[in-house]
Amino acid sequence: MPTTLFTFATTITVFLAISWSALSIETYDDYQNPEHADFIEGDIMPDFPTRNGYPNRKWFNGEIKYVFSSNFTEAQKEPIRQCCRELANRTCVRCRETIPLDIGFVYFKNEPIGCFSQIGFQHSWYQIINLGPGCLKNYILVCHEIIHALGFDHSHNAYNRDDYVRINFENIKEGQEHNFLKKNDTYDCLVPYDRESTMHYGPLTFSKNGLETITPLDGNYTGMGQRKELRQSDIDKINRMYCFNNCTATTNTTTTTTTTTVATTTTSEEPTTIV
Ligand SMILES: *[C@@H]1O[C@H](CO)[C@@H](O)[C@H](O)[C@H]1NC(C)=O
Ligand SMILES: *[C@@H]1O[C@H](CO)[C@@H](O)[C@H](O)[C@H]1NC(C)=O
Ligand SMILES: *[C@@H]1O[C@H](CO)[C@@H](O)[C@H](O)[C@H]1NC(C)=O
Ligand SMILES: *[C@@H]1O[C@H](CO)[C@@H](O)[C@H](O)[C@H]1NC(C)=O
Ligand SMILES: *[C@@H]1O[C@H](CO)[C@@H](O)[C@H](O)[C@H]1NC(C)=O
Ligand SMILES: *[C@@H]1O[C@H](CO)[C@@H](O)[C@H](O)[C@H]1NC(C)=O
Ligand SMILES: [Zn+2]
Repeated sequence: MPTTLFTFATTITVFLAISWSALSIETYDDYQNPEHADFIEGDIMPDFPTRNGYPNRKWFNGEIKYVFSSNFTEAQKEPIRQCCRELANRTCVRCRETIPLDIGFVYFKNEPIGCFSQIGFQHSWYQIINLGPGCLKNYILVCHEIIHALGFDHSHNAYNRDDYVRINFENIKEGQEHNFLKKNDTYDCLVPYDRESTMHYGPLTFSKNGLETITPLDGNYTGMGQRKELRQSDIDKINRMYCFNNCTATTNTTTTTTTTTVATTTTSEEPTTIV
């Protein structure tokens, strides 16, 4: 029975997901956004080649297929659908619930083990986005994970981030430094760096001592780490990659060449149970 196989594969994958998550749970405390201070934010698994945008991991036809774990309530489904509605309004990306025999879809789970997603289409039977209770409070948090699944890494890992922010490695928790490594081969899809992107960390993310891990060079912290809205820059990247098929360059035209590597990269943001 497909159902049996599915359950078996799900069990294996969830086990792996829990393992990744357990490796990566850390406190996230965004001082610009006190309402977000109850996050725990995870990390990106190290040692995989990554780009900010991965045009080689697009979803076919810009259609992201998905299915909910059976115990999602209607209320829990709403922030996912809200993100999908906004994507449908502002981009050519469409979400579609799976139909029988679909393969290659997002399996939304709501285990209380944080929020995480893989980056880009994984060319697998299915891939998980887990949305623990904390990430269902705000549809932008859901969008953050969906944007990872669409093929985008965090903004502050971009090849050109040093022109905009300083990473203070001395303040980063041990073992989390890899979250702040620059991805020199990033495609930014010709969208300028935006510290207010919903894919950017806040100034205190992964701080071990309450001091800043990310400092904006111009001293302007406004919106850095915000999870209130999709920025036009977030929308533009998605459109360049999916709608115009021209997300193949960086603003620095001297850099990248394309590879066809498909790596399994995971990123996670963990909510706490703190109210
Ligand atoms: C679609 O987006 C526009 C602005 O981009 C907004 O004014 C409008 O209300 C949105 N429509 C829906 C149905 O969300
Ligand atoms: C759904 O079920 C999983 C276990 O299968 C559980 O961990 C999770 O908390 C459940 N979610 C809800 C909202 O009940
Ligand atoms: C951008 O290109 C210039 C030369 O055109 C080079 O000096 C610089 O290092 C490049 N920056 C990045 C981040 O690749
Ligand atoms: C990116 O380039 C910088 C300087 O050229 C280097 O120090 C850094 O290790 C590179 N990052 C990665 C992930 O390779
Ligand atoms: C800081 O950034 C915000 C948003 O980008 C902008 O509106 C504001 O004018 C900036 N403040 C200063 C002092 O530049
Ligand atoms: C990407 O495609 C859009 C729509 O065709 C176009 O407006 C834009 O100029 C293109 N950008 C590049 C860099 O080709
Ligand atoms: Zn993330």
